[in-house]
Amino acid sequence: MSRIVHLNGQFLPEEEARVSIFDRGFVFADGVYEVTAVVGGRFIDYDPHMERLNRSLRELDMGWPCSKDDLRAVHEDLVKHNGIDEGRVYMQVTRGVAERDFAYPKDTPTTLMAFTQLGPVIANPKAETGVAAISIPDIRWKRRDIKSIALLPQCMGKEQAARAGAYEALMVEDGHITEGTSSSAYIVKDGVVITRPLSNSILPGVTRRTLVRLAAEHQIRIEERLFTLEEVRGADEAFITSASSIVMPLVSIDGHTVGAGKPGPVAKRLRQVYLDAALAAA
Ligand code: PDD
Repeated sequence: MSRIVHLNGQFLPEEEARVSIFDRGFVFADGVYEVTAVVGGRFIDYDPHMERLNRSLRELDMGWPCSKDDLRAVHEDLVKHNGIDEGRVYMQVTRGVAERDFAYPKDTPTTLMAFTQLGPVIANPKAETGVAAISIPDIRWKRRDIKSIALLPQCMGKEQAARAGAYEALMVEDGHITEGTSSSAYIVKDGVVITRPLSNSILPGVTRRTLVRLAAEHQIRIEERLFTLEEVRGADEAFITSASSIVMPLVSIDGHTVGAGKPGPVAKRLRQVYLDAALAAA
C-alpha cells in the first residue's frame, strides 16, 4: 500500500502529490518545518512543536497554512491513514508558488505538505549501544533559531558523519559546540548536564525544552553554558536530543572514546524519564 501524504488540504497517495516548480520552497528554500515523534499512535510534545512552528512562521512573515485545529487533524489523520504506531510526522510550510523574485510575493497562499515516516522511537537499538559523533565547523547562517528548510550545511555535515561511520556531527563555532546537525547537544560532568543556552546560534529544541523541565522535576542539575570540543572529549557522558532520537547517548567523538564508551547513567535515566512521561501523556 502506498503512503498517504498531505498536500494543501488533500490526502493523496505519495505518487500523486505534486508541487509546482515555482514553489518558493523549491526555488529559495523559503519555508519552515517541524518533525513530531509518534509513540503508540500519539504525538510526543505536539503543542510545543506547533508553538515553535508559529514562531518560525512569524519570524519570516509567513501566515499559517490553515487553522491550528485543522493542522492537528492533518497530523492525526496521517497517522491513522498510514497506521503509524512508532515514527514521526514531517510537515513543512513554504511561502507558496510565485514568479521567481527574491522579495516576498503579496497574497500568495502558502504550501502545506506533510508525511509520515516509520521508525523506532522507544525500542531504538542505537540508544542501547550509544552512537559515534564527529566534529565539524558550523558553517550555517545566523538565524538558526528559525526551523528553516534550508538544510544544506546540515546535509553536508551528516554526510561527512556517515562517511566516518558516525551517527551525528557536532558543529563547532568560535571554539564552542553549537549543536548537532539535527539535534541539541549536551555533556555531563560530575553529575551536571551542560548544554548551550538558547540564542540565535541554535534551534530551540522542543526535546531540549521538555528535558530541561523533566530534569528539574527529577533533581538532575542542568547548567546552560557554552562548552568546548575538549570538554566533550573529557566529559563523563555526552548525548544529543531530538524529536527523532529522543535522548541518544554519544560514546565517541572524532574517534576518541567519551566516558566509559557506553551509554552513561545520566543519559540513560533521562531517556527513560522522557519516554515514561511521553507514554503517560499519550
Ligand atoms: N531536527 N537542532 C537542530 C539543528 C535540529 O535540526 C533539530 C531537530 C534539533 C532538535 O530539535 P527537536 O528536539 O525539536 O527535534 C536541534 C529534526 C528532528 C529534523 O530535522 O529531522
